[in-house]
Amino acid sequence: MFLKDKKILIGITGGIAAYKVYELIRILTKEGAKVKTVLTPSALDFVSPTVLSTLTSNVPYWEWDYKNPLVHIDLAKWCDVFLIAPATVNTISKLALGIADNLLTATWLACDKPKIVAPAANTVMFKNPAVQENLKKLQKWGVEIIPTQKGLLACGDLGEGKLADINLIRDYLVKAQTPQRWKGKKVLITLGATKEYLDPVRFISNGSSGKMGLALAKAIFYQGGKPILVAGDTKVEIPEWFETVRVETTQEMLEACLDIFPSVEAVFMNAAVTDYKFEKTYQNKLKKKEKELIVKLVPTPDILTQLGKLKRNQILVGFAVETQSLVENALKKLRKKNLDAIVVNPSKVMGSDTYEGFLITKDSLVEEIKKPTKEEAALYITQRVAEIFFNPRG
Ligand code: CTP
Repeated sequence: MFLKDKKILIGITGGIAAYKVYELIRILTKEGAKVKTVLTPSALDFVSPTVLSTLTSNVPYWEWDYKNPLVHIDLAKWCDVFLIAPATVNTISKLALGIADNLLTATWLACDKPKIVAPAANTVMFKNPAVQENLKKLQKWGVEIIPTQKGLLACGDLGEGKLADINLIRDYLVKAQTPQRWKGKKVLITLGATKEYLDPVRFISNGSSGKMGLALAKAIFYQGGKPILVAGDTKVEIPEWFETVRVETTQEMLEACLDIFPSVEAVFMNAAVTDYKFEKTYQNKLKKKEKELIVKLVPTPDILTQLGKLKRNQILVGFAVETQSLVENALKKLRKKNLDAIVVNPSKVMGSDTYEGFLITKDSLVEEIKKPTKEEAALYITQRVAEIFFNPRG
């Protein structure tokens, strides 16, 4: 929904990865974006104008004619963002030199909107210094370059140069439309549930899905930040392009957080940490006996409390679920754990797609949050935290 009504111009060049653009267009139009396409002549060998026009409900363009002599200017003015995917090394090099020898490159030169390039090439071609220098040049001019993936290429080689995952390309399009409030900032985000084992096969935990934590990570990415995830057990799949440390127990989560904490500027502690662990654990599977089993639970370490004691300039944000006196209980936690802010929601939000709750700061500022999706709530929370703590007058 972040791309609803956004006008996206996709430039397609003549590489085998061009067939993936169909799926990308599907994702974008499903989200409500308006898409137009402009092709290099060689892209016509890889994609069909009929398919593009059906998928986008707009005619694709690849040449001028007497009816459309200014089509490059019209397309450049029409779009909110111009993405080239896939971008061949040939087109990348033309862009870096300002060459406008076809409709796509002419439209690029005429366009002053946010621009994104998603390269795709054979590893050796991609790594050629000429290409790398040209990419750096584009980056210096403010063009966003989407990193390629490592993988099996169409030529049979295994290596760098594969077109980025289309979901990542979609995320870059959202980023291009979002104010960069977290630009250059590293942010630790914990998510999912920790597990405490009784024996190798039995444990206590909770049903946290990690959905909100992943939404927070994406929101930080959209706003130019670098999320570092520490994830317990999650039901959502974490995309591979997020730097992620996987943990199981609360102790492991604590250790990972302590390790990362000095290098970040903020922490969103969204994990559902299991509060108790078994006092006695067993190395082998416990055998069933005909009598009752009594186990003793002892508290796990409180990660946020430890971070609250260690913090220097980091912004610490906690998350709480409460069933009563939401604001009052959350404020107590904020003070006890030395937090800068806490987000509290009623228990009914768990497992639901919509979000409601409160953002509370250490200065007792209380803001109500009501959003149709967790993604929108996460964007709002991270935006407000940046506004309140990094740019108080912004
Ligand atoms: N938290 C933590 N370490 C724990 C327990 C909780 O870091 N061992 C963090 C959670 O990730 C969350 C915040 O503390 O950001 C509040 O969690 P919550 O479970 O609401 O608070 P508790 O202190 O466990 O209090 P209670 O369960 O009694 O409400």
